Amino acid sequence: MGLRLQYSNTPSLHHSILQMSREYWEKRYQTGDMSWEKGAPSPGLVDFLAARPGLPRGTVCVPGCGTGHDVRAWAQAGFDAFGCDIAPSAVRLATERTKAAGLTAQFQLANFLRDEPPFQFDWLFEHTLFCAIHPGERDDYVRAVLRWLKPDGQYLAVNYLIVEKSEGPPFCTTREEQWQRFSPHFELMKDWIPRSYPNRAGRERMFWWRRAVSAQKPIEKQSLGD
Ligand SMILES: C[S@@+](CC[C@H](N)C(=O)[O-])C[C@H]1O[C@@H](n2cnc3c(N)ncnc32)[C@H](O)[C@@H]1O
Repeated sequence: MGLRLQYSNTPSLHHSILQMSREYWEKRYQTGDMSWEKGAPSPGLVDFLAARPGLPRGTVCVPGCGTGHDVRAWAQAGFDAFGCDIAPSAVRLATERTKAAGLTAQFQLANFLRDEPPFQFDWLFEHTLFCAIHPGERDDYVRAVLRWLKPDGQYLAVNYLIVEKSEGPPFCTTREEQWQRFSPHFELMKDWIPRSYPNRAGRERMFWWRRAVSAQKPIEKQSLGD
């Protein structure tokens, strides 16, 4: 708890960040208050993997993995998949469901923003973690992505672009914010509007970033109007 004091000098922001703690998320699992749980992996991820059968296989980390749908999609596609979550119930459910599906993946209880990775990954896949953390912790989120990824790693994100301001998760973000935060560290390979769950159609955007300190020139980037 003491550690968190360094992120805010304002009592209200500090209080809000504490509310996003392990206890907060664990309680949501224990009470079944899991509006994000769709019973299936991100449609955008499914399409991304299906369209690129030749992607070199390697290690992938899914932080804030929830019950593990996306981790299983990566595992099914032949990646060495790892999921972590701050809520013990999420890790338990993800482990059980992966075993029941006959797939192999590793799960670990971890605070992605604070903990050290077990090793650095080739890929990091984001799906509704960025919008779930308090906006006051977004600098820590970017630092965590850089810490958990290999120096030449790739960061694939399905960002939920909510514009309405909210007191609790999901918190809003924009394409412009994603560009500002990640383009200093990554080359944008491509960004696009993916296929989504019905209630999120048109509200998600995928970003495929490759870590590169110097290059910031878009390669497959589509126009801002996509
Ligand atoms: C909105 S849910 C999304 C779950 C999953 N990605 C999905 O889309 O089904 C956010 C998840 O992130 C987890 N989480 C929140 N803060 C975290 C942190 N600092 N480190 C790791 N996991 C975190 C929560 O426990 C929860 O499972």
